[in-house]
Amino acid sequence: MTPDWRARAAAIIPGGTSTGSKRPDAMFGSTVQGPTHIVSAQGCRICTADGDSLIDLTAALGAVSIGYADPAVTDAVCRAICRGPVAALPYTDEVTLAERLCELVPSAEQVRFLKTGAEACAAAVRIARAHTGRDLVLGSGYFGWLDWWTPAAGVPAGAHADYRHLPFNDRGRWHAEFHAAGDRLAAVVVEPLVEVLADVEWLRELRAHCDQVGAVLIFDEVKTGFRLHRGGAQALLGVTPDLTTLGKAIANGFPLAAVVGNSRVMSAVHRTWISSTLATELTALAAAHAVLDHHAAHDVCALLALSGAALRRAIADAASAADMTVSTIGHDTMFIIRWPDDATQDTMLLALRAAGVLAKRGPYQFPTCAMLPADITIVGDAFHTALSR
Ligand SMILES: Cc1ncc(COP(=O)(O)O)c(C=O)c1O
Repeated sequence: MTPDWRARAAAIIPGGTSTGSKRPDAMFGSTVQGPTHIVSAQGCRICTADGDSLIDLTAALGAVSIGYADPAVTDAVCRAICRGPVAALPYTDEVTLAERLCELVPSAEQVRFLKTGAEACAAAVRIARAHTGRDLVLGSGYFGWLDWWTPAAGVPAGAHADYRHLPFNDRGRWHAEFHAAGDRLAAVVVEPLVEVLADVEWLRELRAHCDQVGAVLIFDEVKTGFRLHRGGAQALLGVTPDLTTLGKAIANGFPLAAVVGNSRVMSAVHRTWISSTLATELTALAAAHAVLDHHAAHDVCALLALSGAALRRAIADAASAADMTVSTIGHDTMFIIRWPDDATQDTMLLALRAAGVLAKRGPYQFPTCAMLPADITIVGDAFHTALSR
């Protein structure tokens, strides 16, 4: 009999997994059937613990852009393991990777590496506070699980007391938030895509006002970096922040994140303390070098957009054939499926898994370069089967 991995995991790991967004209820909602664990991932497919092969539309929450177990990335990582991933001094690969990032990302003149997106965001905010000598931060987006912005249980109120929410894309309301912040404003941190791309005029206004009051503008490009454009959404939208956080697709699933920014603001790193023992371990740096090689050889972001557009068309065709109000919003490289209601969503996600495709609740579905036209046809057929039931 196959082990019940869902029950075994729930008994020993609170929530069933250490990545909160991969909890069965976060992925699939109320349905308690279907796979919760995998044994391998290759290309655009995962192999579940029950031995089923599914096309995965989640790309590991956007952490993978090239494809699972990409041979070139895997080879680079294996070679890094043989060299010894950490030692007394930092590897030269850290320097060369920083140089490559500065060539690609408009805001980047200097770089500090970390391991997770949440760490990169916390570091960027600390640098901004050290640079300005001020505390208050206005933010729009999701910045990871750390204390500085989240009013979660267990976080002392004081830890996030200097963080205020800024409504995304709201050109009418930011004036009031800025006015209330006055000369206490250290930084404005925004994701350049929250369901939809940020309004360029809104970003320009934020840029201009930060300059006027001496605050630091931070773009959180943990999801959008090396996905929307290899220079990030900032290259696409033409607005350059002072600092940028990167993560996820930068290393195709290996644990690497970064804060990059102009030297004027980044120099505040000298006046504070940001450090992590494994921030510069070699496997993730090597994976990122292999990812950048891939970007140099192919227009990765254009390929992601092509696959995403084809997936969205396939979903729209299936919805229209089944006469269901199912649509997609967002960007072709990361989009959301809009279902009529939560119950339909959960039923359909279960039917999709039965038809060989794993999609998740809510934001986002992410294409990868490993998704070929034949895979997209299979996804389209699975949506037809699920929606016409
Ligand atoms: C925009 C953004 N910033 C930060 C984070 C946190 O990254 P991590 O989960 O690697 O800590 C995420 C994670 O989804 C994210 O989407």
